[in-house]
Amino acid sequence: MNDINDCGTEVLKITRYSKKIFPMVLPLLKEGTKGWGKEWSREIISAYSRQQGEAYLAQDGGKIVGTILLRKEVRALVIYFLVVKKEERLKNIGSSLVKFAEGIARREKRILRVDVAREFEGNTRFYLKLGFKKCGRVKNFYQQGDEQIFLYKVPSK
Ligand SMILES: CC(C)(COP(=O)(O)OP(=O)(O)OC[C@H]1O[C@@H](n2cnc3c(N)ncnc32)[C@H](O)[C@@H]1OP(=O)(O)O)[C@@H](O)C(=O)NCCC(=O)NCCS
Repeated sequence: MNDINDCGTEVLKITRYSKKIFPMVLPLLKEGTKGWGKEWSREIISAYSRQQGEAYLAQDGGKIVGTILLRKEVRALVIYFLVVKKEERLKNIGSSLVKFAEGIARREKRILRVDVAREFEGNTRFYLKLGFKKCGRVKNFYQQGDEQIFLYKVPSK
């Protein structure tokens, strides 16, 4: 059941992912990695099927509408993958998942970090709107010829 806010309307519920429900999440993973190349699609699907890292699901009325995959690196919490179902985009769900990750980072005294392929400028704008700052640009990071924009955020107190 979804949480109910003071106005009596349902609010988004964010829960920890378990690989037991992998088949239910698979279509969303495929949708989210479309256009990223086969290697990325395989990498993300494999991470969810083996439950590598820490993934969370956004659910609205029982429907899975988004997911975020986090990894801990030294004192950073890295957003490794984030997707919102196509028809549910621009409804603040992506922001809610990132803010949820920010809460974890705050509690664990970590910085939040993400890298975005240079050609996905819209994704960079999305993170800048959420208060992330650019902290680097690295070529040939995941594969030869790629270029990643690195962004970070120190969680607000
Ligand atoms: C990126 C993504 C997760 C955003 O999720 P969302 O739920 O649509 O985002 P929100 O509704 O929370 O948007 C928050 C703000 O960012 C803006 N924004 C969202 N996506 C954007 C985009 N692609 N380009 C520019 N701005 C964008 C919104 O307009 C909104 O701005 P506002 O506060 O001024 O209204 C979603 O577009 C997605 O799943 N994309 C495909 C998968 C992907 O590329 N994931 C990689 C992320 S690293």
